[in-house]
Amino acid sequence: MQTHKQLTIGLFGFGVVGEGLYKVLQQTPSLNATIKKVCIKNAKKTRNAPAALFTTDKNKLLLDPEINVIVEVIDDADAAFSIVTTAMQNEKSVVSASKKMIAEHFAELLIMQRATRQSFLYEAAAGASIPIIRNLEEYYDNDLLHSMRAIVNGSTNFILTKMFSENLDYGQALLLARQLGYAESDPTLDVEGFDAANKWTFLLTHGYGIITKTSGLVFTGIQNISIRDAAIAKEKGYEIKLVAQAKKLSDGKVAAFVLPQFVQHDDHLSFVKNEYNGVVIESGFSDKQFFYGKGAGSFPTASAILSDLSALRYDYKYEYKKLYHHTPHELSDDFYVRVYVSFDDFKHVPLEHFKYISELHKGSERKFAVGILSFKELKENNWWKEHHVSLIVLPDGILEESDINILEPTVLAEIQTMEL
Ligand SMILES: NC(=O)c1ccc[n+]([C@@H]2O[C@H](COP(=O)([O-])OP(=O)(O)OC[C@H]3O[C@@H](n4cnc5c(N)ncnc54)[C@H](OP(=O)(O)O)[C@@H]3O)[C@@H](O)[C@H]2O)c1
Repeated sequence: MQTHKQLTIGLFGFGVVGEGLYKVLQQTPSLNATIKKVCIKNAKKTRNAPAALFTTDKNKLLLDPEINVIVEVIDDADAAFSIVTTAMQNEKSVVSASKKMIAEHFAELLIMQRATRQSFLYEAAAGASIPIIRNLEEYYDNDLLHSMRAIVNGSTNFILTKMFSENLDYGQALLLARQLGYAESDPTLDVEGFDAANKWTFLLTHGYGIITKTSGLVFTGIQNISIRDAAIAKEKGYEIKLVAQAKKLSDGKVAAFVLPQFVQHDDHLSFVKNEYNGVVIESGFSDKQFFYGKGAGSFPTASAILSDLSALRYDYKYEYKKLYHHTPHELSDDFYVRVYVSFDDFKHVPLEHFKYISELHKGSERKFAVGILSFKELKENNWWKEHHVSLIVLPDGILEESDINILEPTVLAEIQTMEL
């Protein structure tokens, strides 16, 4: 009796991830999965696989009735969306690693999965080798997931690690990341936080049933973090990480954002160095759990795709339990964030918008303030990411109205009368 179905794969893309998957599958014959055809863009490139395997005609894969699984690992989000949706319409299961495409088209992809009843799996799209999506989907009950904090972008984590461990400035660390292949030639998506925010959108769905566009999230990257911020962090006993965060508030809604954060040395995320990723889940009764692994690279990413393929042998589908079987959570704007903000000129930072300020340094070069801002202030204004203003969230930085009311009086009144 055959218990697991034979997987005949049409592979789109033979770059870092596609070639990695090809090699990994050669070493895992027990999976019962074979690549029948590979669709690439440039027919003239030399490939480390038999020429007969390759085509530039997508229909040779999408219209082949023998191919029952499409693995999509290309670097063009628009083409990826068209491939993925056509494949599902043609009754093929799909595995994808394209986080940008998934974030941009999430709602349509949900509809497509329901309409076609096809599996669409994408474990590799967030955290690469870390099995986080299926864990959020299967393991954590809706009511018990208190918070998720994650480093989900390897390039920015590599740059921040080098700024800390080797005292490189941002530009030098970015150059090193490029030289070692950890940053793209156009690093904007990574360093300005788009990549982490893209991943956070669908992790929020699997964790809390929240559907949001990337543009609906408050986020930034590490582009304004300076060597001076790193020095201040060190003085205060912190490291700086780009952290995607979600925390359930007392009203049941969820506070979520992707922002640079001061991280204490005993925080699990401070253990995540270089190109590695990590996720800390806090849930009722089990307390903190920490997932750690390589967040990019050929074999680590291929390993997550392999795991999805393995799940397809028994027709696994995401059920989107938190979305369809529970009352989905909503994002909240109604909370406060404890922040450090550094800047060149007082005119770029509206200190009067702070709810409290506990520290203010008026150095001749870089100045900084530590205080509390309402989340609405971050949502509705952009001053905190313009003119080289650098905003970093403090540890345990999410506060509610009830937390604010018990705070010590601050120097705000003094600031209001101060000549800046
Ligand atoms: N690299 C990682 O560590 C990593 C980790 C997680 C997720 N991902 C995601 O995985 C995907 C692939 O990344 P990658 O690093 O493997 O990219 P890559 O090395 O740049 O390779 C991209 C591949 O896509 C092919 N391609 C582009 N447009 C195509 C089209 N319209 N039809 C068919 N093939 C097309 C290219 O063909 P040619 O070879 O002919 O140019 C190339 O083989 C991306 O969505 C990325 O975000 C990557």
